[in-house]
Amino acid sequence: MSFHGLGKIILLGEHAVVYGYPALAAALDRGVRVAAVPTPAGGALRVDIPSWNLRITADDDHPLAVALCAIADKLDIGRPPLTLVGEAQIPAGAGLGASAAFAVAISRALIDFRDRKIAAAGGSAMPATLGEVTSAANASEALIHGKASGVDVALASNGGIGVFRKASGLRPIKAELRVLIGPSGASRSTSTMVERVTRACSNNADDPRLAELGSLTDHGTNALLGGDHVGLGTSMDRAHALLAELGVSTPLLDGLCEAARRAGAYGAKLTGAGGGGAIIAIAPREKESDVLAAWRAAKVDGFVAKVGG
Ligand code: PMV
Repeated sequence: MSFHGLGKIILLGEHAVVYGYPALAAALDRGVRVAAVPTPAGGALRVDIPSWNLRITADDDHPLAVALCAIADKLDIGRPPLTLVGEAQIPAGAGLGASAAFAVAISRALIDFRDRKIAAAGGSAMPATLGEVTSAANASEALIHGKASGVDVALASNGGIGVFRKASGLRPIKAELRVLIGPSGASRSTSTMVERVTRACSNNADDPRLAELGSLTDHGTNALLGGDHVGLGTSMDRAHALLAELGVSTPLLDGLCEAARRAGAYGAKLTGAGGGGAIIAIAPREKESDVLAAWRAAKVDGFVAKVGG
């Protein structure tokens, strides 16, 4: 049996979402999948994800080992002798929600292990709720993001597309969209970027740039629901400019967004924490290959993702 967590893109509202504003986000159709097998000779709790070159035990000094322990502690299961063998279909550190996908997949596998143990001892375990999965996964994200809003975990566990708010969670919407995704290849740390925005806005949720990012989420969501891709693209362009002002874009990300617009995109922006990671664009169907070609000329291998539906 295997357990998954999905990757995600944030179409609008990253960073502002940490301060309570809405974000429009969508799950990808790929992420991280893990299966639990006993660690030989009753050894340690481990994770093995070859496609990320990741081989950790719970007591390693590695951010994902610390994250693994945070999940195990939240579930109060100690350090069972399990190896979680995984397959990742999204790159780590690329702004596509890899850490949340990891945390959700691991949480699901450990909850299943705990429930089987309860059943084997003659007890009856309540079926795991989505709430239990998200609360375990959020314990990991809180460490990785610093001040996590929970948006990545909500999408990694629920799937779909919707508007997320820290106070009320994910409100799914009925929409479908083709999004061009360009992993820039530049790595970055989400917590460093979250910290940079905290300094740029003096940790003040009323900062006008955060407020404008929040209204762009509203405008962009209405545009998407009304099939107005030009309007959605305009909101994305403006959101990128504001994120750049807050200090989380880079010349590489600015250049890739500009290249997408020149190739005919309705709009383009960084997605996720910024500082590297991925950019996204939406474009008329007949211009998609031009956008991908423009990125390829800059050595970025982009792809089209169909989200929502
Ligand atoms: O780690 P990323 O790149 O998926 O970005 C997370 C989105 C932020 O808004 C920057 C942080 C958060 O927890 O909402």
